[in-house]
Amino acid sequence: MKIKIIPVENQELILLTEKIAFEIWREHYASIITSEQIEYMLEKFQSAEAIAGQMSENGYKYFLVNDNSGGVNGYFAVSGQEENLFLSKLYIHKNSRGKGFGKASLSFIKDFAKKNNYKYIWLTVNKNNLNSIEAYKKMGFVIDCEIKQDIGNGFIMDDYKMVLAMAPQASSSARAAQKFRGEG
Ligand SMILES: CC(C)(COP(=O)(O)OP(=O)(O)OC[C@H]1O[C@@H](n2cnc3c(N)ncnc32)[C@H](O)[C@@H]1OP(=O)(O)O)[C@@H](O)C(=O)NCCC(=O)NCCS
Repeated sequence: MKIKIIPVENQELILLTEKIAFEIWREHYASIITSEQIEYMLEKFQSAEAIAGQMSENGYKYFLVNDNSGGVNGYFAVSGQEENLFLSKLYIHKNSRGKGFGKASLSFIKDFAKKNNYKYIWLTVNKNNLNSIEAYKKMGFVIDCEIKQDIGNGFIMDDYKMVLAMAPQASSSARAAQKFRGEG
């Protein structure tokens, strides 16, 4: 299967990203957070307007993922922060999970990190998002710490921060987390 990664660079692709995001989040988070929180977070973080703002004001880069068979299989977003690359989103549609789309996306993200000299890729994932945590572990991420963020309207994101070291010598799990926290 040939997986294609398409940069989101115009309003049409932003609207497509919003559409797939709304579909995936409503399905996936239904068993993890309340529907009120899902709708609040979609509006705040994944509406076309929010995506456009993140790209123009915060340097986010969004990408769509597909396999050339028509339609979109998922999307991801990254944002560089000093020596670290924040993997802000990685969402593969339910029907496409477990088929290598996540791994192909991460391979693209790692190449991007290497080219731009980022030392670590990090992300946050809901503590009850167990399948995704396992998939991230399989893809080389380790849990660094817990992180709770107040996102307004009485909602909290109760997450783990996970990190992946780019340099092979720093890839042992404890060492990667220690270095990421600046203790190494
Ligand atoms: C997490 C996610 C991005 C992974 O993408 P994917 O396309 O399903 O993953 P892949 O098929 O590329 O698999 C990558 C690796 O993870 C493993 N994996 C995938 N799903 C897994 C699961 N549920 N449990 C354990 N391992 C899993 C695969 O076996 C593979 O490891 P391997 O190369 O050693 O065989 C995807 O499942 C997803 O979008 N989940 C729902 C949305 C979400 O929660 N996103 C993260 C938000 S922070």
